[in-house]
Parts: sequence; C-alpha cells; structure tokens
Amino acid sequence: MATILIIDDEPGIRSAVRGILEDEGYNALVAEDAVIGLELLGRGGIDLVLLDVWLPRMGGLDALEEIGKAHPGVAVIVISGHGNVEMAVKATKLGAYDFIEKPLSIERLLTSTRNALEASELRKENHKLKRLVKAPPPAEELVGFSRPMNEARNLALQAAATEARVLITGENGTGKELLARFIHEKSPRSNGPFIALNCAAIPEGLVESELFGHEKGAFTDAHARRIGRFEAADRGTLFLDEVADLSLAAQAKLLRVLQEMRFERIGGMETVAVDVRVLAATNKDVRAEVASGRFREDLYFRLAVIPIRLPSLAERPEDIPELCARFLSEPGKEIRSLSPEAALALAARSWPGNVRELRNAMERLRVLSSEEPIQAATVERILGPQVQVAAGDKPKLPSRFLALGLQDAKELFERDYLAQKLKDCDYNVSRTAELIGVYPSGLHAKIKKLGIEQEK
Ligand SMILES: Nc1ncnc2c1ncn2[C@@H]1O[C@H](COP(=O)(O)OP(=O)(O)OP(=O)(O)O)[C@@H](O)[C@H]1O
Ligand SMILES: [Mg+2]
Repeated sequence: MATILIIDDEPGIRSAVRGILEDEGYNALVAEDAVIGLELLGRGGIDLVLLDVWLPRMGGLDALEEIGKAHPGVAVIVISGHGNVEMAVKATKLGAYDFIEKPLSIERLLTSTRNALEASELRKENHKLKRLVKAPPPAEELVGFSRPMNEARNLALQAAATEARVLITGENGTGKELLARFIHEKSPRSNGPFIALNCAAIPEGLVESELFGHEKGAFTDAHARRIGRFEAADRGTLFLDEVADLSLAAQAKLLRVLQEMRFERIGGMETVAVDVRVLAATNKDVRAEVASGRFREDLYFRLAVIPIRLPSLAERPEDIPELCARFLSEPGKEIRSLSPEAALALAARSWPGNVRELRNAMERLRVLSSEEPIQAATVERILGPQVQVAAGDKPKLPSRFLALGLQDAKELFERDYLAQKLKDCDYNVSRTAELIGVYPSGLHAKIKKLGIEQEK
C-alpha cells in the first residue's frame, strides 16, 4: 500500500487527514514542518506528500522545489487555507500534482490522492523502462562444449584473471572478437571500457593518430584534439583486431607503446601514461608471418604471452547443432528448430566461414522457410547441395563422431566439463553459468538433460 506524508503545522489537520487516509488503507506519516518532512523523505519509501503552503521555518513552495529536486519520483499535492489562483499556478509550475483549498473536502482529497498515486506509479514505471532501454544487452553466450572449445574457454578464463596479453588466432568467423569480449568481461577490468580497433581497416597514414590521438593543428585536418584508442581504453581493455595486418612501421610504434605504456599524442609534447590491457587477434598464421619477415618477432612475443587458438567448425562439428539452435532462437525473433536429420546434415557440411557463415545460414533458413521443425530436405533446398571443394575432399565427420552419433559426441565432453565447472563453483548454477558464459536457464536444462548430480 502507498505511503503518504502529511506536512502541516496544525495538529488538528494532521490527525484528521491521517485518520481519513488510514481508513482508506494507506500508510500515513506526519510532520509539523517542511524541514522534518524532508528529513522523513530522505529515508525513502514515501510515494506522495500532502503539503501545506503556510509553514514555519521553510515555506511550502520552497519545500515543493526541494522535493522536486531531491525526490523527483514523489508526487506532491499542495494544500492551502488562503488559496488563490496565483498560488495555485506557482505550485503547479513547481511540479505540484494538484492544489486543494481548505476547508478540505474528504471526497476531493481522496480523489486527488488516488490520481496522484496512479500518476507517480506511471512515472516510476517510465523511469524503470528508460533504465532498461539504456542498460547494455546481456553479453552474448559462448556456445559449445566440445573438447577444443572447452580448452579455449578454459585458457580464456585463466587469462582473464591476469593482466597477461592474449593473442587469439583462428580462421575467419571462429569467434575471435567474441572471445576477446568474453575475456574482458571476466577480467577485473570489466567495469572499464572495451575498445576494439580493426587494424586492417585503418589507412597507413592514420595508424598513429588512431592509436595515440593528436593535438589540435598537428596536421592539416586536425581541427581539434582527438584522443587515440590507447587513451580511450584507459583502465580497460584494448582489442587490436587483425593485428598482423599492421605495416612494419606501425608495428614498431605499437611495440614501443607496449613496452612503455606511455606515448605522446601526435603534435603534442605531453607524455600520456595509460593503464591498458591489450588483447589481439588475427586470422593469419602469425608464425609464418614472422618467419617471412612480415611480422616482428619481438612484437609477436609481446602480444602472445598467452596464445589462444580458436578451433574451426570442422574441428568441432558436435557444437554445430547447438550453435544452430542458438541462432534459430535469437531474442526478439520467432523461435525455430531443426529436425534431428537436418541438424546432422548441417553438422556434416563444411563451413569455411565458420560460425559467422553458420549464423548467416540460419538467418536464411528462418526467412526462407516456414516449416517447423525445418527438415533436412529444406536445408538442402535453401542452402544448396553441399559444395565439394575438391574431388575426394568430401565433407566428413571425424571418426569419433560417426562411431558415437551426433548426440553422444556432443555430450561426451560436455557432461565432464560442466560437472567439473559446477563442482568448482560449489554447485551454484548461476555462478557457473556466469563463469562459462551461458545463460543460467540453459545451464539448468543441460544439468537435467545430462543427469549431472552433485558429488557428495
Ligand atoms: N562460440 C560461439 N557461440 C556463439 N556465437 C558465436 C560463437 N563464436 C562465434 N559466434 C558468433 O559468430 C559471429 C562471428 O564471430 P566473431 O566476429 O567473433 O568472429 P571472428 O573470428 O572475429 O571473425 P573474423 O575473422 O571474420 O573477424 C558473431 O556473430 C559471433 O557472435
Ligand atoms: Mg573479427
């Protein structure tokens, strides 16, 4: 029930109004002046104030202004014995919900009270909605518990707890950026910024300015000071994507800042020191790049304190059905599903574009078919027959996969892995879900399905 504060210096009015409100089932508090009233408001829990205008110490209109500033969610009804239009207008301008004259009509008082409470409820709801809209979306899940994926996830978790630089490698679309965000989110820096820079996308002449920023007038187009990515990532994480695409000149500059964690903005004298954790990624074979002289070896060692290689989908076909299921049930869209044969057919295809390609394919299935669940024939019709790269290079499932069947292969490592993580987290499911990067509801379902039990 709503709580209403009555601020009035006349004891008779206070107790009469309190009685009326309590008879209606409201909680009522009283204060003999605005100073005491504001004190009570500061303790919270009050939904509405009935405020007398003529008060000792602090006048009602001043109090109204204060309440508006300090407690914008609280509605106020102003009450006055010497009501005039001017006063009413002033009160309304200051945010009063209503203006009532003494002598009070019980009817009028209760109607206004009900309306004011309803309006303030709406206002609070609105505040909440706005906050919800502003809140960042929940982090994307890291789907897949095949053995190679578990290894990558475990390494990422170990790395996240430290300040060590991580170099993530893997083919196109294997989830390198997703893993970088995962590491940041699990790290003590998760409250700081995560800044991503695609090194392949910056024109050579702008690399330095992107990394370190520039002062006003440093070059022709520098109309204002601009901070670089290193400064933007201060106290957080800087993700250097496609790092092997940097020119040798840019590599030298990057190496210097990684060694010293300080630099000058272009055209500036001031030395800027930053506290940044660097993660990097590339789809190139960095060792080969180093061997051929296209990537500095010293930079490689600086970046790859902990190297993590993300497996391609070909190495973990057992994760494919679950990835498909995830992409067919994206938040805000209609949930779709695959028949078991369709899931098997998808796991047996080759996916040179890896998870990204798979995700796009699922979007196509969703849009171009209405069948539910989607059948294998439909998959073939929409995605086309499996293209074979070269004669004899048939898409094939690894032998363990064929021997076990799709479902068993999927569960082979999943059960052990999840059981271990649950144990590490004292069987707290929410904490485990948070740790491994999945939603708690999904983890609950898995525990049930896999029959994982708490070890005594
Ligand atoms: N394990 C995973 N679970 C869920 N979604 C994934 C997973 N791996 C990748 N994805 C999704 O696949 C898409 C590609 O991932 P991401 O951009 O991280 O890959 P990448 O390795 O950086 O690709 P590229 O080499 O093309 O830059 C994204 O939409 C990402 O959310
Ligand atoms: Mg990427």
